[in-house]
Amino acid sequence: MAEMTWQEAAQKVAALALARYEHHTPKAFVHSYGCQQNVSDGEKLKGICVACGFGLTDSAEGADLVIFNTCAVREHAEDRVFGNLGALTHEKRRNPGLMVAVCGCMTEQTHVAEKIKKSFPLVDFAFGSSTPQKLPFLLLERMQGGKRQFPAPTEQRPILENIPVCRDHPFKAFVPIMYGCDNFCTYCIVPYVRGRERSRQSADVVQEVRSLVEAGYKEITLLGQNVNSYGKHLEEGVDFPDLLRKIDAIDGDYRLRFMTSHPKDANERLFAAMAESKHICHTLHLPVQSGNNEILKRMNRNYTREHYLSLIRKAKEAMPDLTLSTDLIVGFPGEDESAFADTLSLVEEVRYAQLFTFIYSKRKGTRAAEMPDPFTHEEKAERMARLLKLQEKIGTEDNLKLVGKTIRVLCDGVGKSADGLFAGRTEGNRVCEFSGDGKIGEFADVQVEKAFNWAITGRVINK
Ligand code: SAH
Ligand code: SF4
Ligand code: F3S
Repeated sequence: MAEMTWQEAAQKVAALALARYEHHTPKAFVHSYGCQQNVSDGEKLKGICVACGFGLTDSAEGADLVIFNTCAVREHAEDRVFGNLGALTHEKRRNPGLMVAVCGCMTEQTHVAEKIKKSFPLVDFAFGSSTPQKLPFLLLERMQGGKRQFPAPTEQRPILENIPVCRDHPFKAFVPIMYGCDNFCTYCIVPYVRGRERSRQSADVVQEVRSLVEAGYKEITLLGQNVNSYGKHLEEGVDFPDLLRKIDAIDGDYRLRFMTSHPKDANERLFAAMAESKHICHTLHLPVQSGNNEILKRMNRNYTREHYLSLIRKAKEAMPDLTLSTDLIVGFPGEDESAFADTLSLVEEVRYAQLFTFIYSKRKGTRAAEMPDPFTHEEKAERMARLLKLQEKIGTEDNLKLVGKTIRVLCDGVGKSADGLFAGRTEGNRVCEFSGDGKIGEFADVQVEKAFNWAITGRVINK
């Protein structure tokens, strides 16, 4: 007998659900805790829930199925999941028919999956981040009275196309182009929980973006842990700059972004593809992690401060209007005051528009977890405060340089600083609040009048 497909399993779940919840349409609450890739996985899980006959809700209260799509990148992310699972126990008492599933990056670590199984008996089943199609099978089995399931992490992670997606945003979309990571930065759990790099066929990516543009999406963000190694294992011989050019050829009024680039693989071909494009935002998220060569070496980042700075120079030569952002880790094991000073000086030199800063979090199973880490949390927090203060100063100064200029903004909501304002993002991802003739979901040309460290403000100018 042929094996059941996930769609067939989903149909069976839908039929069972109809009988089980005869007085209402069952509702699923899918909560994603992690990065954009994780949110994108969550959108697929929602699509599968709908295929299984569930409606969607945005709270655990009153839900019939709760799915926690977890993140393992820092301890704090894991603690939130444990806290929320604890809180769910009340809901389960109120509604004994509630089913609870945990999936995503946390479940890919055997010791964490064990902890969830032991400490939270309300969890019905778990599954990993690369196998959303397992959801209907696990639901079916549990609804038919099967026992709790915590399958072991799999090494088999083929890419499955054509999974339905329920997108969270009406005009901004995430499109994964590759999964997994081969880099093994010594602090990072991602390669262990996401497996090896694998890329989608370029035709599948282009087709997805085309249909989003045709459906009126205004901003598409291509996703991968290291987009610059896109295509490495594909036979078709298409690399990331090639893929960008193929997508950029799609006509329409939309913006294209991508993340994340790794400095060891970013190059002039990428900058040229960006500079020559119609739709790609002139903004680059290029995580540096540290400004100190010794720390970069121990992080296994495979580039030096000098190489990083030369990349930034080349990117700015290709795109004089380029906006930059980065990720930084404060307090990597053994980072002393002088190494931290190198991070501060790098931040001053590059002048990023945005920093994403993290205090180092020890991840079991990674190489950095074995390195001596003599500095206290207080010392690290104090350094973090200094870094944020520096960034506040740079952010305000650079925002001030925009006053008087006209900037294109994608309007995505209403402003917070005063009544009657719209809010949106510039090409460089700066927050912009503005008055005048705006429309949510449309681009507006805004003349900048004021600048703050958190945003710029202005008014729409009519062309
Ligand atoms: N693939 C991307 C992002 C990975 S996770 C990249 O390479 O840039 C996002 C960010 O989380 C990383 O860039 C890093 O700054 C941070 N991060 C990862 N592991 C961490 C850890 N153990 N402690 C603190 N921050 C961490
Ligand atoms: Fe983690 Fe490094 Fe891979 Fe990014 S490139 S996901 S930081 S191992
Ligand atoms: Fe977290 Fe997994 Fe993303 S660990 S950051 S959800 S890849």
